[in-house]
Amino acid sequence: MPRPEQCPSLPGYLQENESSEEFRDLIGSIPTEKGWVANHLHQYQGFWHTTRQLQGVLACQKHFQAQDGDIFLVTTPKSGSTWLKAIVFALVNRVSFPDPKQHPLLTNNPHALVPFLEMEYIGKEHLDFTNLTFPRLFSTHLPLMSLPKSVEDSDCKVVYLCRNPKDTFVSLWHFTNKLRPVDRGAGSLEETFDKFCRGVSLYGPFWDHVLGYWKGSLEWPQRIFFLKYEDMKNEPEVQLRRLSEFLGCPFSLEEEKSGALDEILKLCSFENLSNLEVNKIGRLPSGEEHQAFFRRGEVGDSMHYLTDKMKEKMDMITEQKLHCYSLKL
Ligand code: A3P
Repeated sequence: MPRPEQCPSLPGYLQENESSEEFRDLIGSIPTEKGWVANHLHQYQGFWHTTRQLQGVLACQKHFQAQDGDIFLVTTPKSGSTWLKAIVFALVNRVSFPDPKQHPLLTNNPHALVPFLEMEYIGKEHLDFTNLTFPRLFSTHLPLMSLPKSVEDSDCKVVYLCRNPKDTFVSLWHFTNKLRPVDRGAGSLEETFDKFCRGVSLYGPFWDHVLGYWKGSLEWPQRIFFLKYEDMKNEPEVQLRRLSEFLGCPFSLEEEKSGALDEILKLCSFENLSNLEVNKIGRLPSGEEHQAFFRRGEVGDSMHYLTDKMKEKMDMITEQKLHCYSLKL
């Protein structure tokens, strides 16, 4: 009998396969905790990773070569990566795909259009990205300090999307429950909440992840663009315009008049993407169902799940961690 965590239907990054002696030595020397779904989470460079995912992190840190012009889309899990991938893909490729009825996003899940850096590198050393058009888009959940060195050394840009921690946590709890083998049932809300608050979550501590990019965006505003999910929801046109300027592809007057901006927002809206056939069926190569990336897509949904005490606790941690840095979530 396979152990539940090694059930073949689990995404690859949650399984624990064979590994080199060097890797086992590393794992043995760093803090380890029980994972939410995977057997283990390991703390590497201050952040928590599953065993397989950590192999991908190490491989991409060693082998990935960033190029001038590359764009990195960074999030913590469940902060809106799917949305960000769709938006930036549509934005930077709008000249190549002028016909909204023929757009690749209508027939491809956004994750299929933007390679996920550390996941791609699981079990691999050399990857061929020559099929990517310019500017190359990559996504990652890596914290700032763990990005491959070549990202810092080349003239590329980073777009960071963050989301308030209560909604991020609830979204992550739902998502990981979908990944758990049926016979294990849902993870306890209280237990996973406690882990999240202690920072023990995929790519957590959540607050350190956000702060790293927030500080980076203040220090290198030409390189790192900091965006909030809630602002994208409240004033999408304003944020998309800002994003287009940061990425060096602002909307022309003609485009503004012809409604190009609204076209992109409509194409990438939760309502549109979640109702497309491609996103209702099928799975990513890593195993997750496409539809698992579209749940409610709302701000404040966490209030239906968290008790008042949980909300207070999370707000207190957020206040303690962020108040010195003029960042409100
Ligand atoms: P909820 O679980 O709160 O609904 P990620 O893409 O990083 O995995 O994050 C998933 C979260 O983003 C889910 O949140 C999902 O519903 C939401 N989401 C997915 N596509 C979206 C879109 N086009 N617009 C807004 N939210 C979206």
